[in-house]
Formats: sequence, structure tokens, C-alpha cells
Amino acid sequence: MRILFICSEYEGLIKTGGLADACRGLASSLLAAGHQVSVILPRYGALYNVTTEGEASVFVELGGQQFGCAVRSTQLHGVTVYLVEHHDFFARERPYDDGQHGYADNPLRFAFFCKVAIAWAARQQVFDVLHGHDWQSAPAAFYLHQHHQYNQRQHSSQSLAGVPFVFTIHNGAYQQQSDAGWAPQLGLPLRQQAVQDEHDHEYPHQLNFLQIALQYATKINTVSQGYRDELLSEPAANGLAGWYQLRQPDFSGILNGCDYQLWDPATDQAISANFHAGDLAGKATCKRQLQQECQLAQSNVPLLVAVSRVTGQKGYDILIPALKHLLNHYPVQVVIVGSGEASYCRQLHQLTVVFPDKFRFIEGFNEQLAHQVEAAGDFFLMPSLFEPCGLNQLYSLRYGTLPVVRLTGGLKDTVVPWPDNKATGIGFTEPNTEALLEALRQALKLYQDQQAYKKIQQRAMTQSFSWEEATEQYLVLYRHAVDAAAKMNN
Ligand code: ADP
Ligand code: GLC
Repeated sequence: MRILFICSEYEGLIKTGGLADACRGLASSLLAAGHQVSVILPRYGALYNVTTEGEASVFVELGGQQFGCAVRSTQLHGVTVYLVEHHDFFARERPYDDGQHGYADNPLRFAFFCKVAIAWAARQQVFDVLHGHDWQSAPAAFYLHQHHQYNQRQHSSQSLAGVPFVFTIHNGAYQQQSDAGWAPQLGLPLRQQAVQDEHDHEYPHQLNFLQIALQYATKINTVSQGYRDELLSEPAANGLAGWYQLRQPDFSGILNGCDYQLWDPATDQAISANFHAGDLAGKATCKRQLQQECQLAQSNVPLLVAVSRVTGQKGYDILIPALKHLLNHYPVQVVIVGSGEASYCRQLHQLTVVFPDKFRFIEGFNEQLAHQVEAAGDFFLMPSLFEPCGLNQLYSLRYGTLPVVRLTGGLKDTVVPWPDNKATGIGFTEPNTEALLEALRQALKLYQDQQAYKKIQQRAMTQSFSWEEATEQYLVLYRHAVDAAAKMNN
């Protein structure tokens, strides 16, 4: 099949979180299975040093105004990535925000990106499926629908005839809701009410990008079965449960894979020593190396680590108080790498001051360090309030860093909690500090019994969450979408 990804992040080019990993992982795997994958992506400021070829000019109309841009291509591991170049909209250092607040013109920037993607795809005439990822691509579902309608009215030989739009929700909490005033300029419909959605009256006059895709995409999926089921009701659906229910027959869950080419401790170039389930000597070296770099004692106490966006989603409201207690009462070391909300970052820096012998917070986005921390830890902290899939727990399993997770969404689908006889990590359910602390106490207790700990570690390291399986499911989804679009076309 010939597939075009419409997305806003791609590992190796631009990344703020797992969306980038997932887009690249799926694209690589589709390619390996013999399919053609292209990606269209905004050319952010950080991408101006990427070598490009060719150039197409694309003009689109938004609110009666013409906007033009260049579309240039670059090659990455066999995938052609098309970069939408519009200096004013995209040549900024960060994709979505200035570090604190989302850019005020995000509705215009990403509506423009989507309109260009559809206009450009229509001109190319080489795609069987358009596949959008998250709210940044959501308006494309509507613009494609409009494009089909226009062609049907004209009885013209259609470009993109019968081409469906598949929409993947990587995170349903990010919806890009904005003032109704944007709608006429962007040519997008206001938030519509789903038949059974009793919550909808609370949002009468709003534009909601995610809702548009839920209404107009041919097929919808999210990145685990667990999160798919959660989205069918509130509060997990963040006000859109009615839409997920309405689209239930077209709404599936496909668990992300783990790209073991990039995340395998046996071959990882970013870590100080390689290791695998059969020989863990390298892991001990990685732990010592990280302790040294963080100026922590080279001790055998359990090292708890985290790498994450520092946001409410990742459970910092329960994690910070739990850490205070843990650091006060137990012999542990904790290293957290992350960037995000200022108030959490301040509290984490404060912990470094209060517990200089035990705690480090390294603020920033550092991919090499993320690998080193995955390799060095004994436990990985992931007490998420919600987690559509989660990739760090998959990396942690492979690196023998037992994940301590809240059993929600994709975490519940991928980590088997101790003391199950197939355990691969530690789990807890209630989203509160006491429940997390209890899980942490279990982790420390398990660590004291090195024989039991190592047994679980071995099992964790041999789990496989390959993209191949996910890819087969995506191919079935694409085929169903093509069939559904063909029916609508006739
Ligand atoms: P999410 O997409 O919600 O952020 P995931 O677990 O799916 O969560 O993926 C997060 C990805 O982003 C992982 O590859 C992780 O290593 C990476 N990441 C998150 N924060 C940082 C950081 N501060 N530095 C480097 N990598 C990070
Ligand atoms: C999102 C989710 C995360 C998921 C990732 C990739 O950012 O928060 O759970 O793993 O997308 O699908």
C-alpha cells in the first residue's frame, strides 16, 4: 500500500515525546513489510539544517486569504519526508509552544499544515491511504471530506478518489480547543454534538480539532486496547465520550511497538556498556557511570529513574510527595530527566537541594541521557494518571529496569504486576500518593530479594513488543478504511 503520514513529529527529525517514536516505528515497519510510506511534516526552525531536494509550491485559501509555501523532501531510512516550509508559521524553535504557553496561532498554523497536506496529496495522486496522527492532523479529515464532496458535485475525475483518512489518537487529552471565532477563517465546523453526548452542552461555541477528526475520519484508532476502552467514558475522554461511543464500530486499539533497532541494550551506542538478558555486567557499569556523572555515591542501593515530559499526565502530583517520603525514610537513589511544567520542575529542583546525596533532577530534553538512564536504573517510575500507550515502560522492560506503573491504559496492557507469577514489573491502581508509596515499598522489598528480582528482570528483558504485530493490524485497518471509503464513494 501507499501511505502518507500527516504528523507533527518524527524521530530523527523532531521529537517532544512518544508521538515521534511511534510515527517512525510504524513507518519503518511498514516499509520493511514492503509498503511505501511518505511523511508530511512542518519544517520547524530546527529542520532548516536538513538537506532537502526538489521543491513544489503549494497555495491554499483560508478565510478568503491565500497562503503559499514550499514543500521540499528529504530521505530518512528509506522514507521520504516532505517538509512544509512556511517561515512565519513554522520556523520557530519549538513546535507547539514557547516553553510555557501554546502559540496563540496554533489553530491557524496546523489548519494551514493540514490544508497544504491535502492539496499536495491531491496533486501527487499516489496514495491509497492518508494517515493522520493526533490533533495537529485532525483538520485534514475535514478538508479531505470537503475535497471529496467538491469532486462529487463537479462529477470530475477525482483526485484522491476513494482515499480514506485513518486517524490515530496518541493522546486524547490534547484536543486543540479554541475560540469559535477561528472557525470561519479556517473553514472548519464548530464543535458538533454527538447524539448521545450529554456533556456536549457545556461546549456550545468552540472549535475542537480532535472532535473534527472523530467526526470525519474514515477509521479511528488509539495506541492500546486499554486506552481505547477508557475513552468510551468520562472523565478519560475529556468531554468527547459521546463521539467515541458514536464511532465505536470504527474505533479500535492497536498497541504501539518498540523499535528495538533504536532501543536495545545489546547494541545501543549511547550507553557506556552493552548488555543483554544473558549477561548483565554491562548494566552494572551503566549504573556506576550514571552515579558518577550525577555525583551520587557508587553504592548498591536501588536506583529509581524516570525520563518524561514533566506534566500532570505523568503523575507528578502523586510522585513528588511519594518521593519526599521515600527519600526521607529509605536508602535509595533517584534520577529524573525531564522538561515541562515550571511548577513541577521547581519542586524537583528543590528535592535535589534537600536530598543532595540521593536525588538528581536533570532538566532538559536529552536523548542520549534518556538511553543512559534507561540502562542504569533498577526501577523506572511511571505513575501516570493516564497513559495511551507509553513507550518508556517498553524500553525499561528491555533494559531490565523494572517499571513501576499505574495500571492504566497501555501500561496495564504491557506490564504484568508483581506478585503475579508472570510479573514483569510493579503495579498499582488508585491514583494517589499512598498507593504509589505502597508500590514503591513493594519494589524495594523485591530488590532486597535479589534472586526474585533477577528472575523478574530476566522475564522483563525477554518480552517483545514488536512493531511487526502492530503493522499487521494497521494494514487490516487500512484495508477496512479503503473498503469503507469505496462504499461512500459509490
Ligand atoms: P509521551 O509520548 O506521553 O511523552 P512515551 O512514553 O510514549 O510518553 O514516550 C516518551 C518518549 O519521549 C520516549 O522516547 C522518552 O525517552 C522521550 N523523552 C521524554 N522526555 C524526555 C527528555 N527529557 N529527554 C529525552 N527524551 C525524553
Ligand atoms: C502519546 C502518549 C503516549 C504514547 C505516545 C505514542 O504521547 O502520551 O502514551 O505512547 O503518544 O503513541
